[in-house]
Amino acid sequence: MIWTLRYDGFDPAEEGHREALCTTGNGYFATRGAAPEARADDVHGPGTYVAGVFDRLTSRVGERELEHESIVNVPNWLPLGFRIGDGPWFDLRDVELLDYEQVLDLRRGLLLRRLRFRDAEGQTTRVAQRRFVSMADPHLAALETTIHAEDWSGQLTISSGIDGDVENGGVDRYRELAAGHLDAIACDRPDDETIALCARTRQSRIAIALAARTRVHRAGEPLAVERRTIAEERRIAEELSLRLAVGEAVTVEKVVALHTSRDVAISEPTLAARRTLIGAPGFDALLQAHVLRWDGIWDALRVEVDGPATTAALNLHLFHLLQTVNGNAVDLDVGVPARGLHGEAYRGHVFWDEIFIFPLLTLKLPELTRALLRYRHRRLPEARAAARAAGFSGAMFPWQSGSDGREESQQWHLNPLTGDWRPDRSHRQRHIGIAIAYNVWRHYQATGDLEFLAHEGAELLLEIARFWSSIASYDRVRDRYVIRGVMGPDEYHDGYPDRDEPGIDNNAYTNLMAVWVLDRAREALDRLPHQRRRALREQLDLHRDELDRWRDISRRMFVPFHDDGRIISQFEGYEQLQELDWDGYRDRYGDIARLDRILDAEGDSPNRYRASKQADVLMLFYLLSSEELGALLARLGYPFEYATIPRNIDYYVARTSHGSTLSRVVHSWVLARASRPGSWPLFLQALDSDIESGPGSTTAEGIHLGAMAGTVDLVHRCYAGIELREDALWLDPRLPDELGELELSVRYRGHWDVRIRIGGGRLRVTVPPSDRSPITVVHRGARSVLGPGETLDVPLRVLG
Ligand code: BGC
Repeated sequence: MIWTLRYDGFDPAEEGHREALCTTGNGYFATRGAAPEARADDVHGPGTYVAGVFDRLTSRVGERELEHESIVNVPNWLPLGFRIGDGPWFDLRDVELLDYEQVLDLRRGLLLRRLRFRDAEGQTTRVAQRRFVSMADPHLAALETTIHAEDWSGQLTISSGIDGDVENGGVDRYRELAAGHLDAIACDRPDDETIALCARTRQSRIAIALAARTRVHRAGEPLAVERRTIAEERRIAEELSLRLAVGEAVTVEKVVALHTSRDVAISEPTLAARRTLIGAPGFDALLQAHVLRWDGIWDALRVEVDGPATTAALNLHLFHLLQTVNGNAVDLDVGVPARGLHGEAYRGHVFWDEIFIFPLLTLKLPELTRALLRYRHRRLPEARAAARAAGFSGAMFPWQSGSDGREESQQWHLNPLTGDWRPDRSHRQRHIGIAIAYNVWRHYQATGDLEFLAHEGAELLLEIARFWSSIASYDRVRDRYVIRGVMGPDEYHDGYPDRDEPGIDNNAYTNLMAVWVLDRAREALDRLPHQRRRALREQLDLHRDELDRWRDISRRMFVPFHDDGRIISQFEGYEQLQELDWDGYRDRYGDIARLDRILDAEGDSPNRYRASKQADVLMLFYLLSSEELGALLARLGYPFEYATIPRNIDYYVARTSHGSTLSRVVHSWVLARASRPGSWPLFLQALDSDIESGPGSTTAEGIHLGAMAGTVDLVHRCYAGIELREDALWLDPRLPDELGELELSVRYRGHWDVRIRIGGGRLRVTVPPSDRSPITVVHRGARSVLGPGETLDVPLRVLG
């Protein structure tokens, strides 16, 4: 139960949602859990996405030309259909379904589908399918189909194909936009049992090659069948014919290889796909290697809490995170797409969501975080160019990032409630740079990896700090620095109701975190070995006066407050906005998560109200400890007392619609850390964000990876209170009452499986046997040194 996601019965209205949640992937590519016999239509949305394969198209919408870069839906490798005699090709909607079951086996990374149906001729057939995208060999996937003739005999024709006639059609809101990313499609039949197809993306000219080998077995023995090739312009298939007697079954095994011209260590993708396929064993052997790889992953990453449903949801979240990024992604030069490789929402772009993902990855797979941060480092030139073009210095990273690191945020977005296209100003969320800097620093803190800091990390930190220094301007009247014209994490406010220029001023989160970045950049510089520090300063032309300015800003940044300094204002002027009639809107609309669209449809705007889509000020309490935040504010000369935190939490909780799935993760976290009630229900809601398929759900278009990783992270770093700093593993658990016990494991200082168990009033930490050095564990002030093979078992001291 903790390792499966199960669906009984077929429900066309739910199919898109299931497809996203039943996606199987390996960090290199992923395939939605679509039915193999289906093509894209109003029920089914097959999709296969390869990490980092983007393409840019221009669309004409009315008078406007809109350019978008999107992750590409590559040719579909799944197609596997069948027909009995001269009957129609099997389609779920044309038969009487007697049984239907779909099970995602998380432990083994395997999607199972079992169905039984009666056709128009009254014949009963049983079908069982198993498929996986190989974790062991990232270029391989396999689908096995067993067809059982329960009460008929006759001719069975099986069609096994590769479909290049696909486009990006997975998101309704993008329907008016250009969607055909593939051209130059060539089909081939390299040998008797293999078909192949190569396509190229239109603009980025990435070649994508697939080769599929189809074999048939009866009673475990290979079966020679008659084969016919069906080659069309954009797809290729083969039809295999055989006879089945009553009670007999055949098993069709389709093994597929996929390569693109982005791959390393290949000559050319068509050739590579063929070679990979030739070297590939049969379904069972491939599956064995795949399961073995997943075993290793789960051993290192397991999380178990009291309550099978919660553990199952956490496993599902980890599963999808790891299918999107894992060791296979280390050499791919990719970031983490906000919606996974599970659908086309947000066009596969990379956002600040990494701030919810990397800290967890660092606890489990630090080398992966490092690789993913390199995606950002490689795009420093583009971020520098963006800063220059906007009149700033340093690196201004894009709010949405794709292939080359330029700004990919849309300029216009569609409000589905009205059908109107509206200007989109979300690229003003300059705080994206804060997320990158934060991740660099936390990675360094957790791993002590000075190599990474010296080579890439510090350069990122310094260039991002430089940007914040240049966008901050000195306000003579206040004698403070201000940052104008930005957007905070709360996307509802992109300007003032009475001002034409876009953006808001002095977003508290941005201003305070900018100071934090300036501090960390200077600290990083101090920590570098002397030679490297000198070389980097010379390379970046970083002089004393610039560092002095950073220091000055970090003492005199403006932070807005209201209610006599009791509330940190989300941005300057926030308190002058109107209060929203939350109850009235809830009564009228029910779900008001997308209050922005509702207000827009009413001819109104969220800019007029004290209403947030998601955590903004509260992000400060999420990212920084109260000591850290207190010190920051004190240095800036602002009052801070512990009560500031609960007071601000109460204030903003009441004014947030949770229009982003990230919001509940943050709220649940800050409530737990501030010992306020209410963390657990929000945690459960965050856990359910993708699993629930209510009317407002967009999971069919892709999972929400930030919320998925964020909930697992919450269990680790908030509830279990794991912190890696000052060369020690700190444990400061704050378990909600509902969470009885938990057991998890982290990678720390070369120890691959440090087990932490909290429960029964005790804390137990076990370091696995090895020849590594001992580690230091700190629990509520008590330090213990633990060598390999040793266990610390102490009474748990939990803060109330
Ligand atoms: C949220 C952003 C997030 C993006 C991608 C938006 O709805 O408001 O904070 O980065 O989704 O997940």
